[in-house]
Amino acid sequence: MTETPPAPSPLKADPPPLKADLDTLASLAKRRGFAFPSAELYGGFASTYDYGPLGAEMKRCIRDLWWRRMVQERDDVVPIEAAVITNPAVWHASGHVAGFTDPLMDCLQCQSRVRADHVVDDTCPVCGAVGRFTAERQFNLLFRTFVGPVEEAAAVAYLRPETAQGMFVNFENVLTTTRRRLPLGIAQVGRSYRNEITPGQFIFRTREFEQMELEFFCHPEQSLEWHAYWKQERLDWYRLLGIRPQQLRLRDHEQSELAHYSQATADIEFHYPWGWGELEGVAHRGDYDLRAHAAGSGQALTYFDPDTQTHIVPHVIEPAVGVDRVLFAVLADAYDEETDARGETRVVLRLAPSVAPVEVAVLPLSRNERLAPVAREVWDLLRPHFRTQSDDAQSIGRRYRRQDEIGTPLCVTVDFETLDDRAVTIRDRDSMAQLRVPIANLEGALREQLALVHPERR
Ligand code: GAP
Repeated sequence: MTETPPAPSPLKADPPPLKADLDTLASLAKRRGFAFPSAELYGGFASTYDYGPLGAEMKRCIRDLWWRRMVQERDDVVPIEAAVITNPAVWHASGHVAGFTDPLMDCLQCQSRVRADHVVDDTCPVCGAVGRFTAERQFNLLFRTFVGPVEEAAAVAYLRPETAQGMFVNFENVLTTTRRRLPLGIAQVGRSYRNEITPGQFIFRTREFEQMELEFFCHPEQSLEWHAYWKQERLDWYRLLGIRPQQLRLRDHEQSELAHYSQATADIEFHYPWGWGELEGVAHRGDYDLRAHAAGSGQALTYFDPDTQTHIVPHVIEPAVGVDRVLFAVLADAYDEETDARGETRVVLRLAPSVAPVEVAVLPLSRNERLAPVAREVWDLLRPHFRTQSDDAQSIGRRYRRQDEIGTPLCVTVDFETLDDRAVTIRDRDSMAQLRVPIANLEGALREQLALVHPERR
């Protein structure tokens, strides 16, 4: 790079604290079916979660929003899907076998294993003992496995710790088959695995997670401009998910924080219940990876620039984010509690319709045999168009509360008048206002009402 990166912009002030702490969120997630501790039947499995019906649906919404913006709507990005377990030479060349490590220490007092870079003032973050640590050791985060029947050194392989290398080792294939010119982005969504020393904070840091990554290959002299572009573009994306801008900020990494491949990185940070932390990284990887794989494979990984008639090694800008971490941030930001005049507390997830696992719930006023077929008819009518649920258990008030708690923006109530006037009531989650609409106009009316729901309208 010939240019110098611009000076970091000043950091944003802290927003007011979120309404939910970690335990409240984890317990809501379990109670309502967003995420369960994995294999709970057998006592769970440390920091591992299984997504329930609502969590699975919400993850799909997040992936789809990313895919739409990062692949489908662009003319300069193409997707791939690479293998999770591939030739270990990839991880030797990328530097992960030698360098993908965290420093760890053991506390001699409580035997906890902690990350040395998380220890402040020589104090154990678990038991508070001061100066009672073993010497620092480097711990490699790669998950090792064996391919084939024999567990021997020659059969060692790794579960990928990032999806990114799939894009680098396929750069030449994608370039040739798509006949594209620079800039060219290659995008991928898929699971990654890291043997984290200190996973935790619910789904914030786990050993198995899902990444959405873009490797954007560009001319070296345009790379700083593209880095600035992608920082802003990625920050803007979170508006589509309804995360309030006050909860997000960009933070440029200090030189000492940079990963082994990175020339410059900015984090998009979210203000979590415990303070600011990484949500997404937007890294400038320079030509590190293409050069590393050219050296590792013995094949030139260059781009022939038809304008200058020269071969160049492109630079890469990489926005990389975890689906699970986005889901966590969305839930944490959306959680709200309000108390009415009678002192009753209502828990509301103020989700944007774009990420709400249920957009519309169909609720017959009561479990009455005359209402059931009409409620069924309305549900059948809406299912092809919206993410829906139908619920007839318990009082209508309790069912509204249940839908509020999972963030359903709109409920459609079928009552006895419906039998005469073929109209239903739409109830808004945030204002609790009600609107009477003929079934014949329901789909259009719901679309209009959903467009009005926005988490910033609190
Ligand atoms: N290819 C670059 C890369 O993987 P990273 O900062 O290590 O960079 C990118 O990871 C994103 O993946 C993070 O910002 C975070 O959203 C997510 N992520 C990383 N490790 C994770 C973990 N252990 N659990 C959940 N999400 C994780």
